[in-house]
Amino acid sequence: MEQKNLSFSYLEYNSMEELPPADRELLVHAKNTVDSAYAPYSHYKVGAAVRMGNGKIITGSNQENMAFPSGLCAERVALFAAAAANPGIAVEAIAITSKSLQFPVEKPVTPCGSCRQAIIEYEMLSHEKIRIILMGETGKVLIIEGMEALLPLSFKEDGLKK
Ligand code: THU
Repeated sequence: MEQKNLSFSYLEYNSMEELPPADRELLVHAKNTVDSAYAPYSHYKVGAAVRMGNGKIITGSNQENMAFPSGLCAERVALFAAAAANPGIAVEAIAITSKSLQFPVEKPVTPCGSCRQAIIEYEMLSHEKIRIILMGETGKVLIIEGMEALLPLSFKEDGLKK
């Protein structure tokens, strides 16, 4: 038996003003998308913006449903729309942010497990890491280079492609 350890590093910025311009621009797109969320059940609005290898930026927001599991997170709304409109183009970065109509979101929103798995799929497709930019309504910004850090030992089975 051998004990193995995993660790990861990430960048923490005190505010979005400190971000490199391209990251800030993507985060602004995500923030501008938050209010398009359809979240009458959770009152928690999430905005995501995806930057593709061809420079295009595609946004998405969470879309809820009366039959709860039928809704979809902002990240996957944005990612699936981006991939559908730009087949074969790599996803370079995704910015995610949120606001609640019931409480202040003062710390970075982090993607749910299903969205992490969906993001990893696009990394596998392009063999390139996706830059993940996370912020709440206010407060610090986290940047993580590659989804593997947030979903270690993720489900991967190349045999399924055969
Ligand atoms: N939500 C997202 O859009 N992204 C996440 O990563 C986590 C949660 C949405 C789903 C639901 O509409 C609301 O936030 C509350 O869970």
